[in-house]
Amino acid sequence: MKLFVTRAIAPEALQLLQDAGIEVTQWQEQRELEPEELIGHCMNHHALLVAGKSKIDRQFLSICHHLKVIALHSVGYDNVDVPAATEHGIPIGNTPGVLSAATAETAFLLMMAVSRKAFYMHRRILNGEWGFTAPMDNLGISLQGKTLGIFGLGKIGMEMARKSIAVYDMKVIYHNRHRNEEAEQTYGAEYVSFEELLSRSDVLSVHAGLSSETKEKFNTDAFRKMKKEAIFINAARGGIHNEKDLVTALNNGLIWGAGLDVTNPEPMQPDNPLLTMPTVAVLPHIGSATVETRTAMAEIAARNIIAGLRGERLPHAVNP
Ligand code: DGY
Repeated sequence: MKLFVTRAIAPEALQLLQDAGIEVTQWQEQRELEPEELIGHCMNHHALLVAGKSKIDRQFLSICHHLKVIALHSVGYDNVDVPAATEHGIPIGNTPGVLSAATAETAFLLMMAVSRKAFYMHRRILNGEWGFTAPMDNLGISLQGKTLGIFGLGKIGMEMARKSIAVYDMKVIYHNRHRNEEAEQTYGAEYVSFEELLSRSDVLSVHAGLSSETKEKFNTDAFRKMKKEAIFINAARGGIHNEKDLVTALNNGLIWGAGLDVTNPEPMQPDNPLLTMPTVAVLPHIGSATVETRTAMAEIAARNIIAGLRGERLPHAVNP
């Protein structure tokens, strides 16, 4: 059986695939594959492992319906038309759980960095502007005892809650499609409406998936309802905020700061005004990028491929 992989992945996962007798071809170039190139490669393979942004849409699936399994090297699956895959009988696997701590760590890092203007201060040092001794200059805001609002309280949001309570004794409120009883019992998290999440959060951290319900949920209307001292964090999907509206909100003082590990669009262009704002910190979608996490993700993806090629139920399938 032959597998095509859209990026180089951890050697531990390649070993698992090799041990299962699967022949692997990895795309080694830095640039993203063009859609036609991806189709061309898939034509000669039985399975596909998608690491990166390749779109697995209805058109792709109708051409590549011979694929026995598609495994994603991500927990998010907004790049896949899951109903279309299901119609073609193609199981889709993802990598939940193993990246929760690393992704929450990234959101936490952004929250801290924004609260103390850390990225901006670093840029000033590079400009030779060391010497910040004036007592009223360069002030950040303390996170101690503040209210953390979580939009989408699943595994990653739970980790963010745990860290924020442990380090800053923050009060956690959340808005979700469903109540999260575990979070309510373990972290005293309080379920609130979306409007209340906006008006009460000192830090509002997004941990939801991208869907038609969450697309550009954070727009001018939402930013206007937030506290003027609030920090907006997004380490989930850039499409959940409207980036032009975010720039305007920060310029007009509707909110205080923002930390983004995901941008809308990606990649963010170097002339984006967010990159020069003192109370903004931006990272290039590195949420799960630790050696340990990426290895664990690749191993899950490999196990999904092996199961799919054997005609077994995937250990982590997103199809119903
Ligand atoms: C994920 O796993 O969904 C990460 O955001 C990588 O895309």
